[in-house]
Amino acid sequence: MNAQTDLVSGSRLSQRLKTETVQQHERMHELMAQGNPFADLGSYARFVAAQYLFQRDVEYLFHDAAVKKAVPDLEARGREEASLADLADLGAAVPQSALASEGVGMPEALGWLYVSEGSTLGAAFLFKEARERLGLSETFGARNLAAYPQGRAMAWRAFVASLDAPVLSDTATQDRVIAGANAAYDRFGSLLEQHFPSPAESRVAGLSEAHEAAL
Ligand code: HEM
Repeated sequence: MNAQTDLVSGSRLSQRLKTETVQQHERMHELMAQGNPFADLGSYARFVAAQYLFQRDVEYLFHDAAVKKAVPDLEARGREEASLADLADLGAAVPQSALASEGVGMPEALGWLYVSEGSTLGAAFLFKEARERLGLSETFGARNLAAYPQGRAMAWRAFVASLDAPVLSDTATQDRVIAGANAAYDRFGSLLEQHFPSPAESRVAGLSEAHEAAL
């Protein structure tokens, strides 16, 4: 056990998740900044494709009775359908990819949900960009970034209450939820990387296109 875990042992799960995955969140910011999804509709559609595949992984976990028991308002959550509708609005193809969450159960599943539910908070900023820069809305193209009907803060508080239930208070269980959150962040990170080539790769692609055009 390192000094950091020692310090946080006995903490609420929500607090531990936030503290111990802070670098993963930072990485999301970096990948989003690199991907620049609001540059144009084509870039944005690539973001929605990544979001759809991630939401599909997350909602797959909703079928597990143990997950339903841990998060009673599960049915109201998830943005798979919204992402699919956005792809249709944008005229973009539905991406194909193997499920990444098969075999994930409780308590790790809660870590996946944490990443998805937490991302609805940052989505307030992304929604604003989609609206202002691309003219999208909660009924066209940006459904996946819109707030839940009860509002972002209320939905988040209810989810945090599920995370902080006494049944999830022992350190070993919490460690497994955090491992699940790390796996979910890794999945979203690799989806962003797949859908947004790095600047170096796009330069190479651009060069070969220019080369082909010159031939
Ligand atoms: C540029 C894109 C993003 C921005 C600007 C952003 C911004 C934010 C903001 C402002 C919060 C609220 C922090 C607070 O209230 O303390 C937040 C929370 C969170 N975000 Fe992001 N975010 C972004 C992308 C993402 C992505 C891609 C994911 C995961 C797929 C993600 C996962 C989370 C999680 C899990 C939380 C909850 C943190 C906690 O309080 O435990 N974010 N984000």
